[in-house]
Amino acid sequence: MRMRKRHNLAPRMEACAAYLIEDPAALRGEWLAAFPEQNRLYVELGCGKGRFTVETAKAEPDAVIVAVEKVPDAMVLAMERARDAGLTNVRFLDFDAANLASIFAPEEIDRLFLNFSDPWPKSRDAKFRLTAPGFLRLYAELLPVGGQIWFKTDNGPLFAWSLEQLESEGWALSEVTDDLHKNGPTGVMTDYEAKFTAEGLKIHRLVATRTPETKTTAAGPVPRLRNAALGDARGSKKPRPPEDALRLVPATLPLCHAYFRQFQQSPELFEDPERCLPYVYDARKVDAWFAQRQARQNERRFYALLEEEPIGELVLKKIDPVQRRCELGICLVNDHYKNHGYGTAAERLALRLAFEELGMETVLADALLANTRSQRSLQKAGFRFVSEDEHFKYYRITREEFLARVGEKTT
Ligand SMILES: C[S@@+](CC[C@H](N)C(=O)[O-])C[C@H]1O[C@@H](n2cnc3c(N)ncnc32)[C@H](O)[C@@H]1O
Repeated sequence: MRMRKRHNLAPRMEACAAYLIEDPAALRGEWLAAFPEQNRLYVELGCGKGRFTVETAKAEPDAVIVAVEKVPDAMVLAMERARDAGLTNVRFLDFDAANLASIFAPEEIDRLFLNFSDPWPKSRDAKFRLTAPGFLRLYAELLPVGGQIWFKTDNGPLFAWSLEQLESEGWALSEVTDDLHKNGPTGVMTDYEAKFTAEGLKIHRLVATRTPETKTTAAGPVPRLRNAALGDARGSKKPRPPEDALRLVPATLPLCHAYFRQFQQSPELFEDPERCLPYVYDARKVDAWFAQRQARQNERRFYALLEEEPIGELVLKKIDPVQRRCELGICLVNDHYKNHGYGTAAERLALRLAFEELGMETVLADALLANTRSQRSLQKAGFRFVSEDEHFKYYRITREEFLARVGEKTT
């Protein structure tokens, strides 16, 4: 997690020192004895800012929640939340999960929570994933048979890879879902989960239970992790083609901010390139811009997401439900994503949505005369050139033409 350095970290930690365990090794084997009012021990690895920690502690007063986090700048917020809620059954450790065995005794933990763990996408870093076999064997040591890992993530490749590791390490899997909140929000959400869910992302979840067959550290050397890059959990390191890598999601204010934080102005968007001034992000202006655009009638706005990054903004505007016609506009966030096929792939996704979900019969588009890149992209997406004037070239595509193209691609 990229984390800003917090001002006044030391005094803020000091102000909630009662929640920090400075010498956790001293409690090894004695955790529940130190909390006589609680009867089970939950450990959360990588608690971040602690929304889940605090809400779980509130919901389960009979459990002790020990939250482990190696970035104190995040953890201080979690500690402040626990203090402000007046909780007595939660404690924090500024600690690396790799060393858990030095602070918990065998079978001492009843349940482990892994929420939105860092994916470490490169193959050579796979061993740092909190669901890597080395970690799973450590957890198997610290949980009794029947003890559980509760794992949630938004990251599909990490989830698929973790399922494979858990299976080959002999964990019993249950409650496996690729869309936890399909029927509405369920369970206690983490900070990341709340944000991703609001953005329309799907959340994966599973429960892994230790069985007598689960491998522990006694099982010998952990398997070597080969070809474990997460772009493709099955081992290929080839980047995914743009049309597979992109998703289109409805515009939200957090996505709009994420987009404008990365936005760079491009001369090709101006008829007079002299008028292209550098863009400077201003949160308040983005708020106002978003509110104004969302209030527009007959307009639907989307972001094209690459992984979780909004790399393009798309709009279907002047939606005419009688003529079944609308116009498509697109703006990629900066030059980094141009000339790689992302614009065309995003336009195709928007066309699919316009024809298949909005029931349009015709979609129109235009591009500045000088913007040959955009003109090429529209044509690759399937648009036909119709006409031009002294400013723009104009394009159109009908549902029939679009479906014929889709058919060609799939046959
Ligand atoms: C992506 S954040 C998720 C935070 C929180 N669980 C949530 O869902 O909102 C992952 C967190 O795990 C922490 N983390 C990653 N590896 C860790 C490790 N080996 N030991 C302790 N914390 C770790 C990171 O510092 C980061 O705060």
